Amino acid sequence: MPRVVIAFTLLFMPATAFGAEPPAHRVSGDLAIRARDILQRRCAGCHTGSADAGFSKLKLLDHKALTAKGRPVPAPAQLLELVKDGSMPPANRAAPTAAEVAALEAWVKAGAPEFPLAFDERYVLRHVADDLERGVGQNKLRYAGEYLRYVSFAHLIRDGEPLPDLGTLEARLNAAVSTATSRPEKLVAVDPAGVVFRIDLTRLGWSTADLFDRMKDGKRDGLHSGAMGPFDLLLLEYPRADLIAPDDPFAKSFEKFLAPKNQVRPVPFVRGDWLTNALLSGKELTPLAADMKSLVALQTAFSRGTPAPEGHVAKPFAGAKPFAGPVPTLAAVYAGDVSPDPAPFALSVEIVVDGKPVASVKDDVPYKLRVSSDRAVRFVLLKVLDDGQLRLQVVEGGDAIRSKEPRELTPGGDGFVTGPETLGFVLLACEDELPAPQILRSRHADKHIWRFLLEPTPKYPFDANKVVRKVVPVSVGK
Ligand code: HEC
Repeated sequence: MPRVVIAFTLLFMPATAFGAEPPAHRVSGDLAIRARDILQRRCAGCHTGSADAGFSKLKLLDHKALTAKGRPVPAPAQLLELVKDGSMPPANRAAPTAAEVAALEAWVKAGAPEFPLAFDERYVLRHVADDLERGVGQNKLRYAGEYLRYVSFAHLIRDGEPLPDLGTLEARLNAAVSTATSRPEKLVAVDPAGVVFRIDLTRLGWSTADLFDRMKDGKRDGLHSGAMGPFDLLLLEYPRADLIAPDDPFAKSFEKFLAPKNQVRPVPFVRGDWLTNALLSGKELTPLAADMKSLVALQTAFSRGTPAPEGHVAKPFAGAKPFAGPVPTLAAVYAGDVSPDPAPFALSVEIVVDGKPVASVKDDVPYKLRVSSDRAVRFVLLKVLDDGQLRLQVVEGGDAIRSKEPRELTPGGDGFVTGPETLGFVLLACEDELPAPQILRSRHADKHIWRFLLEPTPKYPFDANKVVRKVVPVSVGK
């Protein structure tokens, strides 16, 4: 091997990411994941648990059945033997490679560590629920849902696809969390395969209380009483909030945990690779991570009784990418357009001057927002200022857009007045009427962090999956 290649390989070897030794959960987790992968590809097609001819009653991916006591020979040892002597898989099927046989052998020698039938969402939820129950039991004074959160890599393990390098992914996640919190942190695995990790908010300085004010018409309107700490900022941006159906057997476990007073959105866990990228871009903190850090500083000042510090100004909605997915991030401030998949209706917005679309606006030339939809919809409009400030934008003529009848939105007079301070708008539309978003401002002395919340209320029971959101940046040209 040429020297350059060796150096490169060493640099990117997963073990080096951990220092000398990978942690125990990674060693046994990788053995289990690898063994499952081999059994899945080479054996599971016949070992379905069926009694029909050509199939076997021994369901190899069912770890419980595979390791059940009471068999004449322990199944893991037996299967290894049959693979090694060439009797399994049967001669008409491709035999495992030498490396695969070695991997199965290492797995059996390690005591056949556990793998699940599938690395699906149920697997993650089950381990999160179990860990929460343990957490509740361990610390009777505190409620586990107040300080425990979860992150998972299970979605990266897909049948028929190459296995992910979990050691590297885990090391990157730990590095991102450590950088974002300035605390050396190693997240704790809560499942046998080492793909679900616990985040202890207290350890990271991410637990919070009363960091935001409610805003109305640009003025303070009391303290925001709900959950809104550093981790909640992440949840507002999280594009895959897979909500748990009320009839789900896990719903009870999460009911306490996910109560809105603890989390801004009911998200049982976030994806690990998403979290890494949400916190760190290359070696730099993302604007979102910087927001979180400034909330931690605010929290520290409050707990010490020192004056509130200044926050940090990040440009929301800058470089925003569109997102189409199952559960839209309506209140994200770093994401762009959001449309559920499939889109409930078409919605377009453009900036117009004298009825003509323009790419940028000019000083002293008023402009309007032309909106159109192929359905009759209602909307709310937010204005975003370049210091991050969010304001509810009232327009003339109400909040309805008729089907296929474009409408030009204006605050009154000749239109919106150009100023350097308007960064853009966020338009949220739905066939049902929407409540006014709640606007929140961090209690920093200056350079506040702004967020908005848009949630169904008894009076406005809209479905978040039927809301389309458009981000309209306003750029000022010469
Ligand atoms: C083409 C279908 C097929 C494939 C592929 C296959 N098996 Fe089997 N296997 C069977 C059948 C059928 C039986 C039960 C009947 C028999 O004993 O021949 C069996 C029996 C076994 C047994 C004994 C089970 C018992 O009831 O005691 C083991 C262990 C086993 N297979 C392991 C494996 C392993 C490991 C692989 C993959 C490397 C594999 N098999 C792939 C069809 C298959």
